[in-house]
Amino acid sequence: MTEKLAVHGGSKTIKQHPEELFHWPIVTDEDIDAVTSVLKAGTMSGTVITKEFEKEYAAWNGTEYALGTCNGTSGLAAAIWACGVGAGDEVIAPSLTYWATCAAALTFGATVNFADVDPESLCIDAKDIEHRISSRTKAIIVVNYGAMPADFDGIMSIARKHGIKVIEDNSHAQGSIYKGRMCGSIGDIAVASLMTGKAFAIGEAGIITTSNRELFERCVAFGHYERTGAPSRFNPVDAQVHLSDLIPFQGMPIGAVKHRMNQTCAAMGRVQLKHYPERTAVINDAMNYFADKLDLIPGLKVIRPEKKTNSSKGAWYFPLCHYDSSEFHGLQVDKFAEAICAEGILCGAPNLPLHLHNFFHLADIFHMNNPTAVSFGQRDVRQGPGTLPVTEAAKSNTITLPWFKYFDREAIDLHISGYQKVADQVKTLL
Ligand SMILES: Cc1ncc(COP(=O)(O)O)c(C=O)c1O
Repeated sequence: MTEKLAVHGGSKTIKQHPEELFHWPIVTDEDIDAVTSVLKAGTMSGTVITKEFEKEYAAWNGTEYALGTCNGTSGLAAAIWACGVGAGDEVIAPSLTYWATCAAALTFGATVNFADVDPESLCIDAKDIEHRISSRTKAIIVVNYGAMPADFDGIMSIARKHGIKVIEDNSHAQGSIYKGRMCGSIGDIAVASLMTGKAFAIGEAGIITTSNRELFERCVAFGHYERTGAPSRFNPVDAQVHLSDLIPFQGMPIGAVKHRMNQTCAAMGRVQLKHYPERTAVINDAMNYFADKLDLIPGLKVIRPEKKTNSSKGAWYFPLCHYDSSEFHGLQVDKFAEAICAEGILCGAPNLPLHLHNFFHLADIFHMNNPTAVSFGQRDVRQGPGTLPVTEAAKSNTITLPWFKYFDREAIDLHISGYQKVADQVKTLL
């Protein structure tokens, strides 16, 4: 006899949530020793350990430079500023992402021209960028969304043609590969959140990566001080002497913000980095095994790069799956997700579109009694409902998947049977 769906009172497929399969980050005595040694030495605020971490992270990520920050949001603000974004300017960014990807543009008096995403990858659609470029466009911000590498060939060639910088928001994709190259090393500059929920998870922290010396120095000038021991060529206030000509200048960031990484995070980062490739390889194997099976259920298609492209989703942060309701007799995605959750399987939705958020339409950051998005002579590029159809449809055709950290065939197969159970009885949900 067919087992009733859990949402209808039947028993759950996953009776006990396998917490150990999902727990992250993996913390061992090695992490604890590294962090406590910073605490014991009282060096939480220095930069010696952070600089070691930066060197190691840059080498792993394939860039010349890395700069630790207090979180991903601050790193993104610095990168946006470093790319020359200022009052009256525009940046192009996807709308299907977390707000920190591009919100800082407004705090510099610029605005965001949101582009649609590609229906397969859910990353910014290279074909929807060029017509948005104006003489005021300073940067294209790319998110490797849900660890999926964006279409960098298309994006970089448009950016190069127009002399515009590319900023990667690599918060989801530390370790993802695009055609043999590590995400975070392809754009002119990249920023990754390293907060606790992320794939590379070390607390409240972020990291900027670039091989462009000028962009690196600009980020230092914006949010750091006393790093180089020399005045910054990008910070006119960073002279060695005060205007009084008497008091040695202590260094001051031109952004009037302090972006320094807490060294307990840096110490943990050094340990996590050592184990990251081997741990993420396990995740990649587990998730590909899971995805191969899930893809056999008509109407579900896991978002991942094609194998032949020499690309990968690295640690698979925020795994996403296309949901085609026409294969489920028109069942709406939220009903499907509800039934999956009832079976004890983690299932959620992608981000809500930013282009419809009041922040980008109405926020008056400068107290000018006028929305910041149009207060500095920017073109009014604010977009309402219906303007980014692929982005806006994502909430009705995309689900999030469980993020397995270990390759436990039995547990993964049991999860698959839960999806199959719901798929087999979908008519009872209509
Ligand atoms: C895509 C993306 N960008 C930026 C951020 C901001 O990073 P943080 O929370 O470290 O400030 C996050 C997540 O938090 C994110 O998911």
